Amino acid sequence: MENVFELNNVFKTYKNDGKEFTALKDISLTIKEGEIFGIIGMSGAGKSTLVRTLNRLEEVTSGSVNFYGKDLASLKPKELREVRHSISMIFQGFNLVNQRTVIQNVEQSMKIIGIPRVQRREKARQMLGIVGLLEKENEYPARLSGGQKQRVAIARALAADPKVLLCDEATSALDPKITGEILDLLKKINEERKLTIVIITHEMSVVEKICDRVAIIDDGNLAEIGEVKEVFSNPSSKAAKKLVYPSNPFDPSDENGKIVRVVFDGTQSNVPFIANLVEKTGLKVNILSANTKSVGGVGYGQMIVELPPAENDRKTVIDFFREGGLIVSEVNEYE
Ligand SMILES: Nc1ncnc2c1ncn2[C@@H]1O[C@H](COP(=O)(O)OP(=O)(O)O)[C@@H](O)[C@H]1O
Ligand SMILES: [Mg+2]
Repeated sequence: MENVFELNNVFKTYKNDGKEFTALKDISLTIKEGEIFGIIGMSGAGKSTLVRTLNRLEEVTSGSVNFYGKDLASLKPKELREVRHSISMIFQGFNLVNQRTVIQNVEQSMKIIGIPRVQRREKARQMLGIVGLLEKENEYPARLSGGQKQRVAIARALAADPKVLLCDEATSALDPKITGEILDLLKKINEERKLTIVIITHEMSVVEKICDRVAIIDDGNLAEIGEVKEVFSNPSSKAAKKLVYPSNPFDPSDENGKIVRVVFDGTQSNVPFIANLVEKTGLKVNILSANTKSVGGVGYGQMIVELPPAENDRKTVIDFFREGGLIVSEVNEYE
């Protein structure tokens, strides 16, 4: 698959009143054509800075950002304009023009690239159809809900026929149900139009729902990158563990207690491995939490369990789970 973006050793240092702040530290990664690529991290991690380097709204301090094999820094103004027209963006705050109707907002992105009026109208209607908002074409944004506003922004973004859609916290202002609907819409657009989508978010649930691969940004560094399924089942960096593990603290029943996270995929969900554990080893574990979720379309379960007190029994339990194909990791180790 072709690389849409290729970042090589990207650094970004902001300089204000003699003060320097390095927001991106040696980031190298590629984003492939047709994938939904997630960029996740805490607030202030550098996600928005990173996404702005992708269309050169932000100049990199060193390193390079290539778009379809061309270094953005080498582009002439006209070439840069063309690149920017092929990269659409949506935001948390929707950025609609409140004095214009819905359809006029959608037409805006086509006006910029010089599409004639009649064609604009027709295409705008088509785009509003895709996002399911045709009946609101003459409404003003103030009368729309948050989810509807974001649909208009998506229609506007698509109307310019972009190669890439960048979404910076596009669902962060929406409640979970509406977030789910917008993510479903983005997934549909990705599949039907083969559009490459980059999703910036601070929520792991967003990444789990629709991303193919994910990069975890921690304090300006690339902490981890990989298939979402891999990162979810086997997070290796501290930052990834923080995002993937259940957030509430599970205290073991005594201070020497040991807690592990056990992950199993859909193919193992009908195996009664806790019952089998008792039957085969005579040992029990204490289940502190259990849930299932869909990660990249595959069902996954995770359990937080407290191991028995004796060290050799703990080893027996962990070995038993691992032999059954489950992924076991220590919960305490990320704190
Ligand atoms: N124009 C700027 N000048 C100086 N510092 C900035 C500027 N923009 C962002 N930063 C700093 O860079 C860091 C990363 O910011 P940002 O990329 O917006 O993070 P995120 O999107 O992950 O919340 C933050 O500490 C922020 O304060
Ligand atoms: Mg941001």
